[in-house]
Amino acid sequence: MRKVIISPSILMADRTKIDEVLATLENVKAEYLHFDVMDGKFVPNTSFSLEDLKEISKKHNMVNDVHIMIEEPIKFAKYYVKNGADILTFHYEACKDETEVKEVIKIIRSEGAKVGLSIKPETPVDVVLPLVKELDLVLIMSVEPGFGGQSFIPSALTKIEILRKYIDENNLNCLIEVDGGINGITGIQCRQAGVDILVAGSYLVGNKNIKERIEGLRK
Ligand code: DX5
Ligand code: ZN
Repeated sequence: MRKVIISPSILMADRTKIDEVLATLENVKAEYLHFDVMDGKFVPNTSFSLEDLKEISKKHNMVNDVHIMIEEPIKFAKYYVKNGADILTFHYEACKDETEVKEVIKIIRSEGAKVGLSIKPETPVDVVLPLVKELDLVLIMSVEPGFGGQSFIPSALTKIEILRKYIDENNLNCLIEVDGGINGITGIQCRQAGVDILVAGSYLVGNKNIKERIEGLRK
């Protein structure tokens, strides 16, 4: 199986102990730090803000893997790059059409970050295929975005398989990331389907067995 990158999501972490949480994640050698931004409009919840990103992105040496679940990425994407995102992933559904998606890709790249595009569970994977050559990452949501601790939606596996085949057949460099409901079982299923990056929130962050669990996901 291909090598996997682990990107723990700190969405549900105890914010009063964020330094401790980050130190633990660095200790267990998480490669990426998954940082969820929600505006209460694109999704029915709020989470970290731009200010939080500015502060937290400087406190660690992991790759800042920022997932913005916000309306109008065309207006706001650049600020997340300026404030610490190494990879900035926005939502296909937050753009009015494909031209706007391409505009956002251009903005993020010109600000100096890698570009990710995410699709929600009900969005067919076909919409991203023509864009893959312009992307560094495609994020397949395996739960409805907005909350941690939900159950994995299995149709994400077929999307990963289709994308893997497309990327390999066309010799592209784009990474496939999956987010939502990842645990010891679904993590392996996603790896078998061909994923490159596993985001895991509630399964890892704050858990006493984080080291063993990360090792299990990497096996
Ligand atoms: C949900 C977020 C996820 C969330 C995943 O909208 O995008 O990153 O933290 O949490 P788990 O791993 O608990 O499903
Ligand atoms: Zn996320």
